[in-house]
Amino acid sequence: MSSFPRNVLVTGATGFIGAHVVDELLRRGHKVRAATRSEEKGKLLKNARTSYNDQLEIFQIKDFSNAVSFKDAVEQVDGIIHVASPFDYSVQDNENQLVKPAIAGVQAVMEAAAANPGVKRVVITSSFASVLDVNRKSPPHFTYTSADWNPLSYEESIDKDTSAVVAYRGSKKFAELEAWNFVKKHNPTFDLVTLCPPMTFGPICHPVTKIADLNESNNTLWKVASGQDLPVARVPFWVDVRDLAVAHVEALLRPEVGGKRFTVASPDKFSYSKVADIVSGEFDWGEKRVTKGKRQEIDESHDLDGETAGTELGVRYRSFRQTVKDFIEQAAGLEQQERK
Ligand SMILES: NC(=O)c1ccc[n+]([C@@H]2O[C@H](COP(=O)([O-])OP(=O)(O)OC[C@H]3O[C@@H](n4cnc5c(N)ncnc54)[C@H](OP(=O)(O)O)[C@@H]3O)[C@@H](O)[C@H]2O)c1
Repeated sequence: MSSFPRNVLVTGATGFIGAHVVDELLRRGHKVRAATRSEEKGKLLKNARTSYNDQLEIFQIKDFSNAVSFKDAVEQVDGIIHVASPFDYSVQDNENQLVKPAIAGVQAVMEAAAANPGVKRVVITSSFASVLDVNRKSPPHFTYTSADWNPLSYEESIDKDTSAVVAYRGSKKFAELEAWNFVKKHNPTFDLVTLCPPMTFGPICHPVTKIADLNESNNTLWKVASGQDLPVARVPFWVDVRDLAVAHVEALLRPEVGGKRFTVASPDKFSYSKVADIVSGEFDWGEKRVTKGKRQEIDESHDLDGETAGTELGVRYRSFRQTVKDFIEQAAGLEQQERK
C-alpha cells in the first residue's frame, strides 16, 4: 500500500458495529462515506454527529447485491470497510435472507473496488462464525486461530431444516471466502484484511430508539438484565465493540497487515451467569431483576487467539465488567425513556 487511506467508505454504517467504526474514523480525522439502505437511518446517523458535518457523508445504497449500486459509492474513496451483512436469527428463509445477501454484498463491494484503482485496501467484518468448528472437542485443550475455518458446507448452511444460527455461520464463511477467492482470482490493486470477531457487546451509537430494536448480540445481555430466560452461550468468546472498531481502523491503516485474517477477541471469557453477577453487583435494581436460573459455567475447554490482533493491530481489550456495565446503563436509560 503506497499511502494510508484517508477517504473511507463504510457499509453497515447504521448498524451496531458499523456506527462505531464510523466514529473511530471521524475521531481520527478521516472523511467517511457512510453507506446505508435506509435514508431515514442515514439522516439519524448524521444528525447525531453535527460536529463532523464536513467529514461525514451519507450515501444511500438500496440494493447491496450488485456492483452497479456501489459504482458511485466508491468514487474518490481509497479505503473500504465492509461491515454490512444480515445478522438476524428471526428470518424465515435462511438462504435468501442470510446466506445469499451476505455473499452478494461481498461480491458487489469487491467488484466495485476493483473497478476503482484508487482503492488501496478493503477490510471486511467476517466473524468467529467462519472459524468455529462445532465438532471440534477437547481434550486436548486447543486454541482457535485465524488459520481455522468452519467446515460447514454450503448445502448444510442452506438446508431448509437447519436453524438460522447455522445458516448465519454459513453466510459468514461463504461471504468471507468470496472475498479471499476474489483477490486470488483477480489480483486487484487493493489488498484485503478480514476480521473474525466473536460475540460483540457494548454501548450503542447507531440509530436505535427502543429496546426492541437492539442488535442481536446486545439483546442477549439485555435479556439477562431484564429477567428473561438465560440465553444459550454458544461460545464463551467476546469482544467490546469499541475495541473492535479500533481493530477495523488499524486493519485499514497499517500497511504491514495487508492480506491477513485476524480473530479479534478479549482474553477473558464470558457466560450469561457472569452477566447476571455483574448486573447484580453494579446496579441497585440488578439483584432483584436479573435472571438467575441454572448457573452457566464458563467453557474453559478451549480458547480463541485475540493476542495476535492485540499485538499486530494495537488493540487493548476492555474488561467484560466494563463492557456490560456501559451497555446495561445505556439500555436501562432507553427503557426509562420508553416508559415515559
Ligand atoms: N454483533 C456481533 O456479535 C457480531 C459478531 C461477529 C461478527 N458480526 C458481524 O458484524 C457485522 C455487523 O453486525 P452488527 O452486530 O453491527 O449487526 P446490525 O446492528 O444488525 O448491523 C447490520 C448492518 O448490516 C446491514 N445489513 C443487514 N442486512 C443487509 C443486507 N441484506 N444488505 C445490506 N445491508 C444489510 C444493516 O443495515 P440496516 O441498518 O439498513 O438494517 C446494518 O447496517 C455483520 O457482518 C455481522 O455478521 C457481528
